[in-house]
Amino acid sequence: MDKITVSDARRVEAVGRSVRLQGWVRTRRDSKGGFSFIELNDGSCQGNVQVVAPGELPNYEAVVKHLHTGASVSIDGEVKASPAKGQATEVHATHVELLGDADPETYQLQKKGHSMEFLRGIAHLRPRTNTFGAVARLRNQISKSIHDFFQERGFLYVHTPIITASDCEGAGELFRVTTIDPDAPPKAEGKVDYTKDFFGKPAFLTVSGQLQAETFACGLGKVYTFGPTFRAENSNTPRHLAEFWMVEPEMAFFDLTDNMDLAEAFIKRIIADALARCPEDMKFFQERIDKDLLTRLEGVMKTPFRRLPYTEAVDILLASGKAWEYPVAWGKDLQSEHERYLAEQHFKCPVILYDYPRTLKPFYMRCNDDGKTVRAMDVLVPGVGEIIGGSQREERLEILEGRMREQGLHPEGYQWYLDLRRYGTVPHAGFGLGLERTVLFLSGMGNIRDVIPFPRTPGSAEF
Ligand code: 4AD
Ligand code: MG
Repeated sequence: MDKITVSDARRVEAVGRSVRLQGWVRTRRDSKGGFSFIELNDGSCQGNVQVVAPGELPNYEAVVKHLHTGASVSIDGEVKASPAKGQATEVHATHVELLGDADPETYQLQKKGHSMEFLRGIAHLRPRTNTFGAVARLRNQISKSIHDFFQERGFLYVHTPIITASDCEGAGELFRVTTIDPDAPPKAEGKVDYTKDFFGKPAFLTVSGQLQAETFACGLGKVYTFGPTFRAENSNTPRHLAEFWMVEPEMAFFDLTDNMDLAEAFIKRIIADALARCPEDMKFFQERIDKDLLTRLEGVMKTPFRRLPYTEAVDILLASGKAWEYPVAWGKDLQSEHERYLAEQHFKCPVILYDYPRTLKPFYMRCNDDGKTVRAMDVLVPGVGEIIGGSQREERLEILEGRMREQGLHPEGYQWYLDLRRYGTVPHAGFGLGLERTVLFLSGMGNIRDVIPFPRTPGSAEF
């Protein structure tokens, strides 16, 4: 008797095997012939396996005929070829054990067809639904592709800190990390005295591991960091989270074009892997979530990404004749509506915008000779908008110090970062891909809160 997964039991190769299956009852149907069908799921795949439970089972009347949706069971039986349509196999039970019942009066997943909003409120139970199972498996596959892609190309995985004293993006969207008692903080000259705090100075949750990744790239060549990042940004949109996962490659001796080439190959690889390794879940997304999904993703894999300077994108948006919610002008940040117009309607493919106004982008991006723009790049994809933000880094010490002052940062606090430019400075570049936005893009799901297990957003940190 082998313990196997539902995924394995559904394969025709399993026919003839005596197996044990353990999982949760999706539905039970009693036949007039005196036996029952149990649809069993264990999360190993999208589909269920059909268990045929004969009336001869000793606990048939007492237990099997009362199995509820959501109950956990352990089932022994033999895998047989199924005469039914749409399934290769079924399992004929010789033993059914109820592990834990689920009271139909109170179990919230008793019925199908709940809204995403409702399921968000029971995030501890939604892993048992088809949609969240598919999302979880896709998210897992994307994470694996991320590691595979970089490992195969000789990148070193580095673990950058979660707690940091630097604001990488300079946007002031930091969560403070402190052990100071908020009701009785130590004070000096009327202000909270952070020299008395745990780290002896103000500390925060990281918004990006980039600055620390740069220290490894400027010594080890090609590296990537992949972990949670935090932004205390008051954005209540379907694309923003206060805690999200980001993968950030950083490469010495790369310029902006090398950076774009890598980003494009990376996205195409993630899509190819998902289509090849999660076909059942991708089909589910196509059928249930977004009818255009597979055509769109296949198109993205085949088409070269359109690359153009920010300035040209602004011209296109101005010439579009569209009534924008946020007006377009050179020097203004592009909003989601503009990004999506470019990718979805104008070019109908992913777009890499580069050379953004220096006032819009963080201090670390390399200045262009025009004095107005920096070597930034954003990758915009249909359905989501910005999925990657990156740049070539400013490797010239004086210019970098000037940029810090220009943005109100104190170079004194970044001496370690400036040392990379003082000693053996090299051209280098990198980018950050948001994991949840990638899951949105690959699944067609509409809200970022539904592609992370436990979303953290303004006003909400349940579970
Ligand atoms: O454009 P961002 O802010 O870039 C950086 O943090 C750089 N330090 C990356 C680098 O060059 N190493 O963020 C990168 C990506 C965005 O394109 C987006 O996909 C995602 O991270 N992202 C968010 N995802 C969810 N919620 C948020 N609040 C996000 N902010 C950024
Ligand atoms: Mg960005």
